[in-house]
Amino acid sequence: MGRVQDKVVIVTGAASGLGEADARLLATEGATVIMTDINAEAGEKIAAEIGATFFTQDVSDETGWKDLMTMVEKEFGRLDALVNNAGIAVIADIENTSTAVWRRTMGIHLDGTFWGCQSAIELMKKSGGGSIINMSSTAALVGIPSYLAYSAAKGGIRAMTKAIAIHCKQQKYHIRCNSIHPGSISTPMVHHALKTLVGVDITKQADSEKTRREMGIGEPNDVAYMVVYLVSEESKHVTGTEMVIDNGDTAV
Ligand SMILES: NC(=O)c1ccc[n+]([C@@H]2O[C@H](COP(=O)([O-])OP(=O)(O)OC[C@H]3O[C@@H](n4cnc5c(N)ncnc54)[C@H](O)[C@@H]3O)[C@@H](O)[C@H]2O)c1
Repeated sequence: MGRVQDKVVIVTGAASGLGEADARLLATEGATVIMTDINAEAGEKIAAEIGATFFTQDVSDETGWKDLMTMVEKEFGRLDALVNNAGIAVIADIENTSTAVWRRTMGIHLDGTFWGCQSAIELMKKSGGGSIINMSSTAALVGIPSYLAYSAAKGGIRAMTKAIAIHCKQQKYHIRCNSIHPGSISTPMVHHALKTLVGVDITKQADSEKTRREMGIGEPNDVAYMVVYLVSEESKHVTGTEMVIDNGDTAV
């Protein structure tokens, strides 16, 4: 308890899956959590449960980022960490990816992470430092043909993270920037992929936890523990890294 006591932390895409788990664990560990998402109904409900603040935000909208940071500065006076987590994963290979899907994927993952990092740095500089955590994927590390646009976007997030980490270090901002690369973790995004790609509806299995373990799929807290570590002072010497959480899948 208290590993991130009183740290002011924004988590995007916090109304579901990994973002929800991050928000819950950060709140348990003492953080002041600001949850954002396009899904206000689910977001408000979780925020009320854990004592967080909810802010409706589409991360692919630049103005929304400005509004969010203005609110955070006014209400909380500082920003200690940002978790750029919001995302979509459209199943389509190179021959079947439409321009609309390509642009939407880049808008959420790349534009969103870019504006998030840029606006967070501006605020973090004022209070002497912070930690930015960008949710990438193992799709940034190996080829996943059925996720063409997603892989490209996650690869971009990985590279952007390192460039930001080095810049902040050179400028002596005391702002760290790291990416996390989960393999398959049990969230609505992966449940949809399993149903579509291998015909398994994990949520309808008699013992879905057993099925999850047998299929080698992680649980959201496997990632949330890493997020808490990267927000906390325990990781003060860690920047520019790529934290892989995939039960060894990409180690072969
Ligand atoms: N689950 C996995 O196995 C896995 C693996 C690697 C990476 N990731 C990444 O983790 C992140 C979270 O994924 P998840 O599995 O929890 O998915 P999820 O679908 O359960 O949750 C994603 C959340 O993002 C929100 N969102 C979508 N578009 C948004 C937008 N434009 N602005 C704000 N919020 C938006 C959704 O409303 C939803 O609440 C994503 O970036 C995803 O790519 C997930």
